Amino acid sequence: MHPSTTRRQFLATTAGATAVTLLKPALAFGAQANSKISLGVIGCGGRGAWIARLFAESGLYQVTACSDYFQDRIEAVGEAHGIPASRRYAGLNGYRGLLESDVDAVVIETPPYFHPEQAMAAVEAGKHVFLAKPIAVDVPGCLTIAEAGRKAAAKNLVFLVDFQTRANEYYREALRRVRQGDLGRIVMAEAFYPWSGGGRGAPPATAEEQLRQWYYVLPLSGDFIVEQAIHALDVATWILDADPVKAVGLGGRAMRPKNSIFDHFALTYTFPDEVPLAFTCVQAIPAFKDEIRCRAYGTEGYIDTDYFGSVWIRGNEPYKGGSTGNLYTEGAEVNIREFHQAVTQRHYANPTVAPSVRANLTAVLGREAGYRRREVTLAELVKENRRLEFDVRGLKG
Ligand SMILES: NC(=O)c1ccc[n+]([C@@H]2O[C@H](COP(=O)([O-])OP(=O)(O)OC[C@H]3O[C@@H](n4cnc5c(N)ncnc54)[C@H](O)[C@@H]3O)[C@@H](O)[C@H]2O)c1
Repeated sequence: MHPSTTRRQFLATTAGATAVTLLKPALAFGAQANSKISLGVIGCGGRGAWIARLFAESGLYQVTACSDYFQDRIEAVGEAHGIPASRRYAGLNGYRGLLESDVDAVVIETPPYFHPEQAMAAVEAGKHVFLAKPIAVDVPGCLTIAEAGRKAAAKNLVFLVDFQTRANEYYREALRRVRQGDLGRIVMAEAFYPWSGGGRGAPPATAEEQLRQWYYVLPLSGDFIVEQAIHALDVATWILDADPVKAVGLGGRAMRPKNSIFDHFALTYTFPDEVPLAFTCVQAIPAFKDEIRCRAYGTEGYIDTDYFGSVWIRGNEPYKGGSTGNLYTEGAEVNIREFHQAVTQRHYANPTVAPSVRANLTAVLGREAGYRRREVTLAELVKENRRLEFDVRGLKG
């Protein structure tokens, strides 16, 4: 039997398995380190290195393998976690070597273009998956993640998508109240993502440079509406609890060069029962105090949420809510803990997958409406099933 299967079965079947019991050194694998979840990092850039440290600091995981296209990125994470050279995997297909190793789980922190392929391969290799948002850059990618989530559940694997807002107690409680009807009938919603960062750059010249600086490369990031503003659209679709029917609006490059991604979108989405969502996102505005915000207005009250602020409901059934605090770090920490709980307590429902697919499709729909400068329906987009292609010729395999 494959060693990782043995370990996973152990993690899953230990009577009343909890984080606490697993961490007792006396249990089957002897050394305390070995009773932690063994984790491989795929993508050792900014967030990969950062979150690998959070996983390790939680005390619930040992980072035992890493992969990245670039050797220098691998070495940095490898050194930080004492990973042997034989478990550091370079190149475009390095992640496949990592998946053949005995890790129990992987955290995927590569550019979004690679997420569907890498997440599906991880599930097929029998690994639990912790995946960065956005899950994909196009419709085929979203559908692949939906399928990977289903496969994971069927194979008793955990698949978690790391949206920090979905891990926050105030967002969760506010949304519970929305679901029980505290807003009454939702009349309309608005979401926005105004941002100082993002820069005004363009894609670098070579494919290799593009892997390092992928943000302005459309197929790699999906444009900033998908890569960044999805945080606001995810909350909007969470509140509205439906797929959008269509979107229409404008977007463009007022500050970024012509071969780059857009720097602004202003769209109107239509949800079922003619519920509108007004959505704007803009980047590279000097000195702007960033917001990732969503409000929804109902016949009985309204909800207001901001990733960098507070969450509350006002109206006939008010909810005081609270400040989101350092959601960037704390949201990831909750997801890291809940990923561990799901693995050890055998929770394979993988509830973050379907909403992430919905939010991602909503972002892709908005991008396409902005690009095409006409109304685009979700049904049309799904039927079209168009893939964004990144030319990997010349890259190391
Ligand atoms: N708040 C959040 O949830 C949040 C914040 C930041 C980033 N992210 C997400 O994390 C992911 C990574 O972003 P980042 O900021 O760390 O980017 P980054 O460029 O710093 O890191 C990405 C790494 O992936 C490597 N890479 C590229 N192609 C690869 C391939 N085919 N196989 C293996 N490695 C490959 C790059 O060399 C790089 O080291 C993105 O999906 C991003 O959207 C999420």
